[in-house]
Amino acid sequence: MRVPLIAGNWKMHLTLTEAAELAAAVARVAEASPDREVLIAPPFTALAAVKAVAGSRLLLAGQNVCWEEKGAFTGEISPLMLREAGCRMALVGHSERRHLFHEDNRMVNRRLRGAMAHGLIPILCIGETLAERDSGRTLETLEKQVREGLDEVELVDPAKLVVAYEPVWAIGTGKTAGPAQAQEAHHFVRRLLAGLYEKNIAAGVRILYGGSVNAANVDEIMAQADVDGALVGGASLSAESFERIIRFN
Ligand code: PGA
Repeated sequence: MRVPLIAGNWKMHLTLTEAAELAAAVARVAEASPDREVLIAPPFTALAAVKAVAGSRLLLAGQNVCWEEKGAFTGEISPLMLREAGCRMALVGHSERRHLFHEDNRMVNRRLRGAMAHGLIPILCIGETLAERDSGRTLETLEKQVREGLDEVELVDPAKLVVAYEPVWAIGTGKTAGPAQAQEAHHFVRRLLAGLYEKNIAAGVRILYGGSVNAANVDEIMAQADVDGALVGGASLSAESFERIIRFN
């Protein structure tokens, strides 16, 4: 019932030419994989070039989104602009936004609600730091990020929200959470959602795993009951490895 979602986060990488080439290759794989959804989040400046080659099955997302439609918000991107550029979704609260740019749960919540208000599906990124895990505060951290991130958010359609669990210590480090660690966190998040929303809503929200997902480890991660997809950084920048990830078993 939860259609797997494989998402590539390109972060601040690729020229326009490289972006169009990679997107065209990923679009071909998406066309050939009708039982799963494929999404990429290119830099804002590459959205038009990517849209031009994306076809009908490759979905696009913003890497972030502002809560305002327009105005004096230098450096921000409006949800309307993302919609116009062809985006279906937007990342909010990515670990790099939280840790390098000091976005807190309150700001993430504003971004998430702004996205939803304009018909964008937010991908709410959450995850504990190594210090939080080592001191036994993983679940407490996730709970706070979920509760505060979803403050005042109503959800009547599970397709309108995606959560991505990305342990900070696993992002870009080559270390992944073990499949059991991922499942424990995902199951916990789904229980939290069940406390906030109707049972069938919580059961239908897709929860992605992110953090050093690659061609070699994707199958065992995707085999976990509450893992509904992957949010992939580094390994989404090569057509070959991202294709293998999209074609997970
Ligand atoms: P990574 O990044 O796959 O390079 O660890 C994941 C992410 O930041 O979404």
